[in-house]
Amino acid sequence: MERMFGRPIVTQEQMRSRIRELGRQISTDYAGKDLVLVGVLKGAYAFFADLARAIRIPVRVDFIIVTSYGTRAKTSGKVKLVTELTEKIKGKDALLVEDIVDSGLTVQYLIKTLAKRKPNSIKICTLLSKPERRVVNVQVDYVGFRVQNEYIVGYGLDYQQKYRNLPYLAVLDQLNEHET
Ligand code: IMP
Ligand code: MG
Repeated sequence: MERMFGRPIVTQEQMRSRIRELGRQISTDYAGKDLVLVGVLKGAYAFFADLARAIRIPVRVDFIIVTSYGTRAKTSGKVKLVTELTEKIKGKDALLVEDIVDSGLTVQYLIKTLAKRKPNSIKICTLLSKPERRVVNVQVDYVGFRVQNEYIVGYGLDYQQKYRNLPYLAVLDQLNEHET
């Protein structure tokens, strides 16, 4: 599998070190607060597990599953919450943990939806951000890596539900697409 992905863009070592930094920063920023990490499945599962363990303050964890309609080239912006939170976030500080912010529509929808549950604050932490592709202006508070307008797989991110288990991030180039 690794041989198919000749162009890793972020190595495991770079990822480990960046996630350590994010964990330190989040631990400082949320010291003394009641932090709930909300993982957005499926894409964020790998990042979530590593990030949570890099945070040095006690946190609660929760997950939501979202589906978005439309293809990757044309994000429809219609996002559906498939599962609900199990933790109450009212009065707590929620940090949404995402794999990637692309158009920004998913995150915009999630913030709007979670705000109804009256948390004390909602912020966003994403492993990757593609600022070039943004169609709505959302504030992304913590970003692992900024990437170009390329399709990325691995470490939780999929192409047609595959490659989430790749242990690093790689650009899905045309050659690879033919093999799927
Ligand atoms: P949005 O366009 O910001 O709403 O992003 C929607 C979702 O599309 C993300 O949460 C990812 O699941 C997916 N996505 C966007 N860009 C990529 C990519 O390069 N690789 C894999 N998934 C992506
Ligand atoms: Mg996602």
